[in-house]
Amino acid sequence: SASDSYEFIKVSEPRARVGQVTLNRPKALNALSTPLIKELNTALRAFQGTPSIGAIIITGSARAFAAGADIKEMAPLTFSRAYLDSFIENWSELTTSVKKPIIAAVSGHALGGGCELALMCDLIYCTTSANFGQPEIKLGIIPGAGGSQRLTKAIGKAKAMELILTGKSFSGEEAEKWGVAARSYPDHESLMKATLDTAETIASYSRVAVQACKEVVNKSQDLGVRDGVDYERRVFHSLFGSIDQKIGMTAFVEKKKAEWFHE
Ligand code: CAA
Repeated sequence: SASDSYEFIKVSEPRARVGQVTLNRPKALNALSTPLIKELNTALRAFQGTPSIGAIIITGSARAFAAGADIKEMAPLTFSRAYLDSFIENWSELTTSVKKPIIAAVSGHALGGGCELALMCDLIYCTTSANFGQPEIKLGIIPGAGGSQRLTKAIGKAKAMELILTGKSFSGEEAEKWGVAARSYPDHESLMKATLDTAETIASYSRVAVQACKEVVNKSQDLGVRDGVDYERRVFHSLFGSIDQKIGMTAFVEKKKAEWFHE
Protein backbone atom coordinates (compact mmCIF):
# COMPACT_ATOMS: atom_id res chain seq x y z
CA SER A 1 0.00 0.00 0.00
CA ALA A 2 0.96 3.68 -0.23
CA SER A 3 1.69 3.63 3.52
CA ASP A 4 4.59 1.24 3.02
CA SER A 5 6.65 3.94 1.36
CA TYR A 6 6.50 6.20 4.45
CA GLU A 7 8.62 5.98 7.59
CA PHE A 8 7.18 8.76 9.77
CA ILE A 9 3.51 8.89 8.76
CA LYS A 10 0.69 6.50 7.89
CA VAL A 11 -1.80 7.21 5.13
CA SER A 12 -5.24 5.67 4.91
CA GLU A 13 -8.74 6.14 3.50
CA PRO A 14 -10.80 5.49 6.66
CA ARG A 15 -14.13 6.44 5.05
CA ALA A 16 -15.30 6.79 1.47
CA ARG A 17 -13.63 9.84 -0.15
CA VAL A 18 -11.72 10.73 3.05
CA GLY A 19 -7.92 10.72 3.12
CA GLN A 20 -6.08 10.55 6.44
CA VAL A 21 -2.47 11.22 7.40
CA THR A 22 -1.50 9.93 10.84
CA LEU A 23 1.76 11.35 12.16
CA ASN A 24 3.71 8.33 13.36
CA ARG A 25 6.95 9.05 15.24
CA PRO A 26 5.68 7.84 18.62
CA LYS A 27 9.09 7.77 20.37
CA ALA A 28 9.57 11.47 19.66
CA LEU A 29 5.92 12.44 20.31
CA ASN A 30 5.59 13.10 16.57
CA ALA A 31 8.26 15.82 16.59
CA LEU A 32 8.19 17.37 13.14
CA SER A 33 11.56 16.61 11.58
CA THR A 34 12.46 17.69 8.05
CA PRO A 35 12.01 14.11 6.70
CA LEU A 36 8.57 13.87 8.37
CA ILE A 37 7.45 17.17 6.84
CA LYS A 38 8.66 15.98 3.42
CA GLU A 39 6.55 12.84 3.77
CA LEU A 40 3.55 14.85 4.97
CA ASN A 41 3.83 17.17 1.96
CA THR A 42 4.14 14.19 -0.42
CA ALA A 43 1.09 12.47 1.09
CA LEU A 44 -1.00 15.64 1.01
CA ARG A 45 -0.01 16.34 -2.59
CA ALA A 46 -1.06 12.77 -3.46
CA PHE A 47 -4.49 13.27 -1.83
CA GLN A 48 -4.84 16.60 -3.62
CA GLY A 49 -4.12 14.80 -6.89
CA THR A 50 -6.57 11.94 -6.23
CA PRO A 51 -9.98 12.93 -7.65
CA SER A 52 -11.95 10.55 -5.41
CA ILE A 53 -10.65 12.21 -2.20
CA GLY A 54 -12.88 15.06 -1.03
CA ALA A 55 -11.55 15.86 2.45
CA ILE A 56 -8.34 15.23 4.37
CA ILE A 57 -7.60 14.58 8.05
CA ILE A 58 -4.27 15.13 9.77
CA THR A 59 -3.99 13.50 13.17
CA GLY A 60 -1.47 12.02 15.61
CA SER A 61 -1.89 9.65 18.55
CA ALA A 62 -3.95 9.95 21.73
CA ARG A 63 -0.76 11.18 23.47
CA ALA A 64 0.52 13.66 20.89
CA PHE A 65 -0.63 15.42 17.76
CA ALA A 66 2.93 16.76 17.48
CA ALA A 67 5.31 18.07 20.16
CA GLY A 68 6.80 20.67 17.83
CA ALA A 69 9.70 20.98 15.46
CA ASP A 70 12.45 18.45 16.13
CA ILE A 71 14.59 20.13 18.78
CA LYS A 72 17.43 17.61 18.33
CA GLU A 73 17.58 18.45 14.62
CA MET A 74 17.46 22.21 15.28
CA ALA A 75 19.97 22.36 18.14
CA PRO A 76 23.09 22.64 15.90
CA LEU A 77 21.39 24.77 13.20
CA THR A 78 23.17 28.03 12.27
CA PHE A 79 21.61 31.28 11.08
CA SER A 80 23.26 30.91 7.65
CA ARG A 81 21.90 27.41 7.08
CA ALA A 82 18.42 28.32 8.37
CA TYR A 83 18.38 31.40 6.11
CA LEU A 84 19.88 29.81 3.01
CA ASP A 85 17.67 26.71 3.24
CA SER A 86 14.55 28.76 4.13
CA PHE A 87 14.15 26.46 7.13
CA ILE A 88 10.45 25.76 7.91
CA GLU A 89 9.18 27.50 4.75
CA ASN A 90 8.11 24.17 3.22
CA TRP A 91 6.01 23.42 6.33
CA SER A 92 3.31 25.70 5.02
CA GLU A 93 3.25 24.11 1.57
CA LEU A 94 -0.13 22.58 2.45
CA THR A 95 -1.68 26.04 2.80
CA THR A 96 -1.08 26.74 -0.89
CA SER A 97 -0.88 23.35 -2.63
CA VAL A 98 -3.88 21.66 -1.01
CA LYS A 99 -7.24 23.03 -2.12
CA LYS A 100 -9.30 20.31 -0.43
CA PRO A 101 -10.35 20.95 3.19
CA ILE A 102 -7.92 19.68 5.82
CA ILE A 103 -9.17 18.89 9.33
CA ALA A 104 -6.68 18.63 12.20
CA ALA A 105 -7.82 16.10 14.82
CA VAL A 106 -5.76 17.02 17.89
CA SER A 107 -5.28 14.83 20.98
CA GLY A 108 -2.51 15.29 23.53
CA HIS A 109 0.39 17.65 22.83
CA ALA A 110 0.16 20.21 20.03
CA LEU A 111 3.13 22.36 20.93
CA GLY A 112 5.24 24.80 18.93
CA GLY A 113 5.25 23.58 15.35
CA GLY A 114 2.53 21.06 16.30
CA CYS A 115 0.19 23.87 17.31
CA GLU A 116 1.20 25.77 14.17
CA LEU A 117 0.53 22.77 11.92
CA ALA A 118 -2.96 22.49 13.42
CA LEU A 119 -3.50 26.21 12.85
CA MET A 120 -2.53 25.80 9.16
CA CYS A 121 -5.39 23.34 8.71
CA ASP A 122 -8.84 24.58 7.72
CA LEU A 123 -10.61 23.21 10.77
CA ILE A 124 -9.48 21.99 14.18
CA TYR A 125 -11.31 19.40 16.28
CA CYS A 126 -9.61 18.38 19.55
CA THR A 127 -9.99 16.58 22.84
CA THR A 128 -10.87 18.75 25.86
CA SER A 129 -7.56 17.68 27.44
CA ALA A 130 -5.45 18.49 24.36
CA ASN A 131 -2.35 20.54 25.26
CA PHE A 132 -1.83 23.41 22.86
CA GLY A 133 0.93 25.99 23.18
CA GLN A 134 3.81 27.94 21.75
CA PRO A 135 6.66 27.12 24.16
CA GLU A 136 9.46 28.36 21.85
CA ILE A 137 10.38 31.16 24.27
CA LYS A 138 11.65 28.48 26.68
CA LEU A 139 14.15 27.34 24.01
CA GLY A 140 15.45 30.84 23.29
CA ILE A 141 13.57 31.16 19.99
CA ILE A 142 10.14 32.29 18.74
CA PRO A 143 7.36 30.53 16.81
CA GLY A 144 8.58 29.97 13.25
CA ALA A 145 5.74 28.28 11.40
CA GLY A 146 3.14 31.02 11.59
CA GLY A 147 2.11 30.81 15.26
CA SER A 148 2.57 34.49 16.05
CA GLN A 149 0.29 35.36 13.13
CA ARG A 150 -2.32 32.59 12.96
CA LEU A 151 -2.77 32.21 16.73
CA THR A 152 -3.13 35.98 17.09
CA LYS A 153 -5.73 36.06 14.30
CA ALA A 154 -7.58 33.22 16.00
CA ILE A 155 -7.67 34.40 19.63
CA GLY A 156 -6.70 38.07 19.52
CA LYS A 157 -3.57 39.92 20.58
CA ALA A 158 -4.15 39.87 24.35
CA LYS A 159 -4.26 36.12 24.75
CA ALA A 160 -1.74 35.35 21.99
CA MET A 161 0.82 37.79 23.39
CA GLU A 162 0.48 36.29 26.86
CA LEU A 163 0.78 32.71 25.61
CA ILE A 164 3.74 33.37 23.32
CA LEU A 165 5.64 35.48 25.88
CA THR A 166 5.12 33.01 28.75
CA GLY A 167 5.18 29.74 26.79
CA LYS A 168 2.15 28.60 28.81
CA SER A 169 -0.10 25.95 27.31
CA PHE A 170 -3.84 26.10 26.81
CA SER A 171 -6.25 23.18 26.91
CA GLY A 172 -8.49 21.82 24.21
CA GLU A 173 -11.42 23.06 26.25
CA GLU A 174 -9.97 26.59 26.08
CA ALA A 175 -9.15 26.13 22.41
CA GLU A 176 -12.83 25.53 21.75
CA LYS A 177 -13.98 28.36 24.02
CA TRP A 178 -11.59 30.82 22.32
CA GLY A 179 -12.49 29.74 18.80
CA VAL A 180 -9.19 28.04 17.86
CA ALA A 181 -10.95 24.69 17.66
CA ALA A 182 -14.44 24.30 16.23
CA ARG A 183 -15.30 21.57 18.72
CA SER A 184 -13.77 19.52 21.54
CA TYR A 185 -14.53 15.95 22.63
CA PRO A 186 -13.99 14.01 25.88
CA ASP A 187 -11.57 11.42 24.46
CA HIS A 188 -9.55 10.41 21.39
CA GLU A 189 -12.13 7.88 20.18
CA SER A 190 -15.06 10.30 20.17
CA LEU A 191 -12.80 12.94 18.58
CA MET A 192 -11.88 10.60 15.72
CA LYS A 193 -15.48 9.53 15.15
CA ALA A 194 -16.67 13.13 14.96
CA THR A 195 -13.75 14.10 12.70
CA LEU A 196 -14.48 11.22 10.33
CA ASP A 197 -18.19 12.08 10.26
CA THR A 198 -17.45 15.71 9.40
CA ALA A 199 -14.86 14.78 6.78
CA GLU A 200 -17.32 12.34 5.22
CA THR A 201 -20.05 15.00 5.14
CA ILE A 202 -17.75 17.53 3.46
CA ALA A 203 -16.51 14.91 0.99
CA SER A 204 -20.11 14.11 0.00
CA TYR A 205 -20.73 17.63 -1.34
CA SER A 206 -19.90 19.23 -4.69
CA ARG A 207 -16.12 19.41 -5.08
CA VAL A 208 -16.31 22.78 -6.77
CA ALA A 209 -18.51 24.26 -4.03
CA VAL A 210 -16.36 22.78 -1.24
CA GLN A 211 -13.15 24.16 -2.75
CA ALA A 212 -14.78 27.56 -3.19
CA CYS A 213 -15.98 27.57 0.47
CA LYS A 214 -12.47 26.87 1.70
CA GLU A 215 -11.02 29.51 -0.60
CA VAL A 216 -13.35 32.33 0.42
CA VAL A 217 -13.29 31.62 4.16
CA ASN A 218 -9.48 31.50 4.15
CA LYS A 219 -9.41 34.77 2.18
CA SER A 220 -11.08 36.45 5.15
CA GLN A 221 -7.81 35.96 7.05
CA ASP A 222 -5.90 38.10 4.54
CA LEU A 223 -8.43 40.69 3.33
CA GLY A 224 -10.46 43.44 4.95
CA VAL A 225 -14.24 42.92 5.06
CA ARG A 226 -15.03 45.12 2.03
CA ASP A 227 -12.46 43.41 -0.25
CA GLY A 228 -13.36 40.04 1.24
CA VAL A 229 -17.06 40.46 0.47
CA ASP A 230 -16.22 41.59 -3.10
CA TYR A 231 -13.99 38.52 -3.46
CA GLU A 232 -16.72 36.25 -2.14
CA ARG A 233 -19.27 37.68 -4.58
CA ARG A 234 -16.94 37.06 -7.57
CA VAL A 235 -16.48 33.44 -6.56
CA PHE A 236 -20.22 33.11 -5.81
CA HIS A 237 -21.05 34.37 -9.32
CA SER A 238 -18.57 31.92 -10.85
CA LEU A 239 -20.38 28.97 -9.28
CA PHE A 240 -23.33 29.61 -11.61
CA GLY A 241 -20.96 28.33 -14.28
CA SER A 242 -20.62 24.96 -12.54
CA ILE A 243 -22.63 21.87 -13.36
CA ASP A 244 -23.13 21.24 -9.64
CA GLN A 245 -25.11 24.46 -9.19
CA LYS A 246 -27.60 23.17 -11.78
CA ILE A 247 -27.57 19.68 -10.25
CA GLY A 248 -28.04 20.99 -6.69
CA MET A 249 -30.83 23.44 -7.42
CA THR A 250 -32.67 21.15 -9.84
CA ALA A 251 -32.57 18.37 -7.23
CA PHE A 252 -34.02 20.75 -4.62
CA VAL A 253 -36.84 21.86 -6.91
CA GLU A 254 -37.63 18.24 -7.91
CA LYS A 255 -37.34 17.07 -4.26
CA LYS A 256 -34.56 14.59 -5.16
CA LYS A 257 -31.11 13.91 -3.71
CA ALA A 258 -28.36 15.74 -5.58
CA GLU A 259 -25.94 13.45 -7.41
CA TRP A 260 -22.88 15.66 -7.77
CA PHE A 261 -20.77 15.65 -10.87
CA HIS A 262 -17.44 14.01 -10.08
CA GLU A 263 -14.93 14.02 -12.92
N1 CAA B 1 11.80 17.47 19.38
C1 CAA B 1 12.53 16.35 19.54
N2 CAA B 1 12.23 15.38 20.41
C2 CAA B 1 11.16 15.57 21.20
C3 CAA B 1 10.37 16.71 21.10
C4 CAA B 1 10.71 17.69 20.15
N3 CAA B 1 9.98 18.79 19.95
N4 CAA B 1 9.36 16.62 22.01
C5 CAA B 1 9.53 15.46 22.64
N5 CAA B 1 10.62 14.81 22.15
C6 CAA B 1 11.16 13.53 22.58
C7 CAA B 1 11.87 13.65 23.92
O1 CAA B 1 13.18 14.14 23.74
C8 CAA B 1 11.82 12.22 24.39
O2 CAA B 1 12.84 11.51 23.72
P1 CAA B 1 13.84 10.51 24.53
O3 CAA B 1 12.93 9.41 25.00
O4 CAA B 1 14.82 10.08 23.49
O5 CAA B 1 14.40 11.31 25.65
C9 CAA B 1 10.49 11.71 23.87
O6 CAA B 1 10.12 12.61 22.83
C10 CAA B 1 9.40 11.73 24.91
O7 CAA B 1 9.34 13.03 25.47
P2 CAA B 1 9.37 13.31 27.05
O8 CAA B 1 10.11 12.26 27.75
O9 CAA B 1 9.81 14.73 27.25
O10 CAA B 1 7.80 13.17 27.37
P3 CAA B 1 6.96 13.91 28.54
O11 CAA B 1 5.63 13.27 28.52
O12 CAA B 1 7.73 13.93 29.80
O13 CAA B 1 6.83 15.43 28.05
C11 CAA B 1 6.41 17.23 26.47
C12 CAA B 1 6.09 15.77 26.92
C13 CAA B 1 5.89 18.20 27.52
C14 CAA B 1 5.69 17.43 25.16
C15 CAA B 1 7.93 17.39 26.30
O14 CAA B 1 8.44 16.35 25.50
C16 CAA B 1 8.33 18.70 25.66
O15 CAA B 1 8.35 19.73 26.32
N6 CAA B 1 8.69 18.68 24.35
C17 CAA B 1 9.15 19.84 23.63
C18 CAA B 1 8.02 20.77 23.30
C19 CAA B 1 8.55 22.01 22.59
O16 CAA B 1 9.32 22.76 23.12
N7 CAA B 1 8.09 22.21 21.34
C20 CAA B 1 8.46 23.36 20.55
C21 CAA B 1 9.64 23.02 19.67
S1 CAA B 1 10.28 24.43 18.85
C22 CAA B 1 9.32 24.66 17.48
O17 CAA B 1 8.37 23.97 17.27
C23 CAA B 1 9.75 25.76 16.54
C24 CAA B 1 8.69 26.20 15.59
O18 CAA B 1 7.96 27.14 15.85
C25 CAA B 1 8.54 25.55 14.29
